[in-house]
Amino acid sequence: AVEYETILVERKGRTALLTLNRPKALNALNLQVMNEVVAATEALDRDPECGCIVITGSAKAFAAGADIKEMQPQGYLDMYLTDWFAAWDRLGQLRTPTIAAVAGYALGGGCELAMLCDILLAADTAVFGQPEIKLGVIPGIGGSQRLTRAVGKAKAMELCLTGRTMDAMEAESAGLVSRIVPAVELLAEALAVAEVVAGMSLPVAMMAKEAVGRAFETTLSEGVRFERRLFHAVFATADQKEGMGAFIDKRLPEFRHR
Ligand code: CAA
Repeated sequence: AVEYETILVERKGRTALLTLNRPKALNALNLQVMNEVVAATEALDRDPECGCIVITGSAKAFAAGADIKEMQPQGYLDMYLTDWFAAWDRLGQLRTPTIAAVAGYALGGGCELAMLCDILLAADTAVFGQPEIKLGVIPGIGGSQRLTRAVGKAKAMELCLTGRTMDAMEAESAGLVSRIVPAVELLAEALAVAEVVAGMSLPVAMMAKEAVGRAFETTLSEGVRFERRLFHAVFATADQKEGMGAFIDKRLPEFRHR
């Protein structure tokens, strides 16, 4: 097994749990965290036995942002030539479904990391925001784009321009999170959702993810055309025969992920 220093990775059946583990810095996302999260999730993405990845933090902080101490001395060319944060884009390109289980602070890069995941579950203690402006910078892991698509211009502008944060209730009513869970139940609930997803046909779940993701990249008619092609394609899987056959036979399906 690969050893990581800033994250913990556990397997539970077909589900993987990745826990951010820099408690002294409230899981601030330095380059090491980025590289470890990307390496670990890409390895899981290549594993056909892994059907869903849960990413979580601690009770106090999912992640309090990118690492301010690491960024403070950097100049333009340092950021440009290393393409600072570019590796995070690869998290959004995973094919395996991902779930962010957010308790406590999800600020700046923490909010952006949560938004890079497919399903966002929030504890009632969750706090979301893009407070970069208070540091004299702007979001750099897609926050200005993904927050705007998630909650609309009105709230995204206010959050990015003032640094104001949203609690879990506001985030849910704005459409940023799919559900709020009591903090003590967050991890169990996230793992339960992950188990449901991982129990579906992996290739079909990947196509469902790809189809929904396309809605953020293209026009309605092109998106519907893309969905239709994938819909036709799932009829080439054994799992389609099994899923529909099980319904007709009044039994539970046993997907074989092919
Ligand atoms: N980077 C580096 N260190 C951080 C950090 C961050 N983003 N957030 C917290 N820490 C560190 C603190 O410096 C502190 O370390 P020390 O004990 O060595 O001083 C430790 O974590 C605990 O933090 P606090 O003492 O501040 O804890 P608190 O409970 O008083 O406050 C908080 C919690 C409100 C989240 C506060 O820590 C905070 O405001 N953090 C910064 C939030 C922020 O601005 N995030 C955006 C970062 S920029 C970014 O993310 C750019 C991007 O788009 C990618």
